[in-house]
Amino acid sequence: MTGEPGAIRTVIVGASGRMGGQLLRLMPEFPRLQLHGAVTSPGSAALDLDAGTYAGGAACGVRITASLPPLLKHADLVLDFSHATAVPANLSACVDAGVALLIGTTGLPPPLEAELTAAARAIALLVAPNTSLAVNLLTQLVRQAASALPASYDIEIVEMHHRAKRDAPSGTAMSLGAAAAQGRGVSLEQHASYARHGVSESRQDEQIGFSSVRGGDVVGEHEVWFLGAGERLLLKHSATDRAVFARGALVAGQWLAGRTAGSYRMQDIFIN
Ligand SMILES: NC(=O)c1ccc[n+]([C@@H]2O[C@H](COP(=O)([O-])OP(=O)(O)OC[C@H]3O[C@@H](n4cnc5c(N)ncnc54)[C@H](OP(=O)(O)O)[C@@H]3O)[C@@H](O)[C@H]2O)c1
Repeated sequence: MTGEPGAIRTVIVGASGRMGGQLLRLMPEFPRLQLHGAVTSPGSAALDLDAGTYAGGAACGVRITASLPPLLKHADLVLDFSHATAVPANLSACVDAGVALLIGTTGLPPPLEAELTAAARAIALLVAPNTSLAVNLLTQLVRQAASALPASYDIEIVEMHHRAKRDAPSGTAMSLGAAAAQGRGVSLEQHASYARHGVSESRQDEQIGFSSVRGGDVVGEHEVWFLGAGERLLLKHSATDRAVFARGALVAGQWLAGRTAGSYRMQDIFIN
């Protein structure tokens, strides 16, 4: 299959999932992105169905399959929102075919780090555990504020999510903490404080505090406080719709396709 001139032939891995569905429904907002393939797990109930209708939209003529490599010969971009266990094989298939890859799948095992580094020598690779554009801008602003303000401004991160979320603090809160620590020039590992209860020591200098609130159907709120003597600065992001992650991934994918090999971050999108 050949694409329209300028078209980015895109394969979605995890096409039958919640994120896959969002990506498929929002893709028409990005006319350069042309759906080229839709992949799920080998045992998926969605196999062989039309990806568009499965996602609740119009038929698109692309059938859902369980194998990525055959689709890559004529593809320009892969968006992976599947499962951590599927990522190593998808990564090596993209390297073999020389196709740009955005990994939105979370929970990647630390040993994969070396493979990701090696892959980025061969393909344009963007690993993005949070594809919201505004969250990624917030991360930059937090780093900048932590670096600009003196250490006497205490940093506290408060996150709020729906009642079903199991992990705490959220991965995004941890990334914001890492950005704050980087801006301050300290180690997050040594300065993070995750729990306060009872009668304990008062707040330590350079501590980065985390608080997690769980309840209801909150999609995701992240607040980063800089608390000084006589003033407070609050940097805050609220997600009201999960579509922000899909839209951000499509913006990032469009930006990534056709780039030279390298390891990219969501924040690179704001620079170039
Ligand atoms: N980067 C971000 O901003 C962001 C935002 C939201 C979610 N995520 C992450 O994206 C991933 C997917 O999230 P989700 O909510 O869409 O999950 P989900 O609804 O459970 O969907 C997972 C999808 O992956 C497919 N899949 C599972 N194992 C696979 C395999 N071995 N090979 C190929 N496909 C496989 C599933 O197929 P079948 O079930 O049909 O078999 C399904 O299509 C998760 O890691 C999640 O944490 C990232």
